[in-house]
Amino acid sequence: MLSQPVAELDHIPVLGPAVVAGLQVRPAGRYLDCTVGLGGHAALILAAAPQVRLVGVDQDPQALAQAAERLHPWADQVTLWPGNFQDFDPGDQPFDGIVADLGVSSPQLDRPERGFSFRLEGPLDMRMNPRGELTAATVVNNWSEVDLVRIFSEYGEERFSRRIARALVAGRPFATTTAVAETIRQAVPSSCRRGPIHPATRVFQAIRIAVNGELSALEMLLRRAPDWLRPAGRLGVISFHSLEDRRVKHGFVADTRLRVITRKPLVADVEEVATNPRARSAKLRIAERLEPDPLPGLE
Ligand SMILES: C[S@@+](CC[C@H](N)C(=O)[O-])C[C@H]1O[C@@H](n2cnc3c(N)ncnc32)[C@H](O)[C@@H]1O
Repeated sequence: MLSQPVAELDHIPVLGPAVVAGLQVRPAGRYLDCTVGLGGHAALILAAAPQVRLVGVDQDPQALAQAAERLHPWADQVTLWPGNFQDFDPGDQPFDGIVADLGVSSPQLDRPERGFSFRLEGPLDMRMNPRGELTAATVVNNWSEVDLVRIFSEYGEERFSRRIARALVAGRPFATTTAVAETIRQAVPSSCRRGPIHPATRVFQAIRIAVNGELSALEMLLRRAPDWLRPAGRLGVISFHSLEDRRVKHGFVADTRLRVITRKPLVADVEEVATNPRARSAKLRIAERLEPDPLPGLE
């Protein structure tokens, strides 16, 4: 048994009922959770109908161990697949529904040793997959100033990319998350140091996206996942910032294999946000797999 904090076992998945309703979970259906994490959405899907089978993917072995524990009551209906969802091999049986709840999980953020948090002192890591080659330390200490400006602007939409990149290059080498966060705080204008949002928020997001190749993995998933669905099967994606949501929105609309179900993204209501602050920026979009086009000449 893993010893994990009670809060993690009690974890409430973001937009859980909307995911189950959106996927139209049905008895004996086959579902893929691309980001099984703590098993929160997976447990709801398994509980929603009898004899559901589920494949749960995660690139973080700690997450998979927690998912296995959470999903123990359905152990013989669940298969866990370690790895990046962009490399997932679906085999030859289509899925009735696929869900992806993007980004990092609460335990990844809350455990200082994972290096995701600018509030908790930890090593500059930020890898969801601990076998990944690129770490936050390499990005912060070795990447050129030009490349830092580029990722802070593109992946963090950070206004002060240039001055932050300059300060980080001047302050090298860095060993801890909090040292980087403090340098960023000093680099922004003093008027931006106060306020509810820490000045390092966007830069940490940018470094994390770069370390984990998050946007290219999402683009690959959007290209591949429709082919893993049976006709009328549903794909639901929960995103947490505009860079992801834009890709999901445009990916769904432009894909001739899909029909968009959610014209506007589904978002959490005030009660959900009050109990689960992570839900505040969540957006769920759902699309449905169309029948494949008939072969030319057979119409
Ligand atoms: C937000 S959490 C998912 C939480 C989960 N839906 C639940 O209810 O417990 C995201 C999880 O997806 C994993 N993840 C993110 N990107 C991934 C990728 N490209 N491939 C595989 N796993 C990924 C992370 O390691 C993390 O465990």
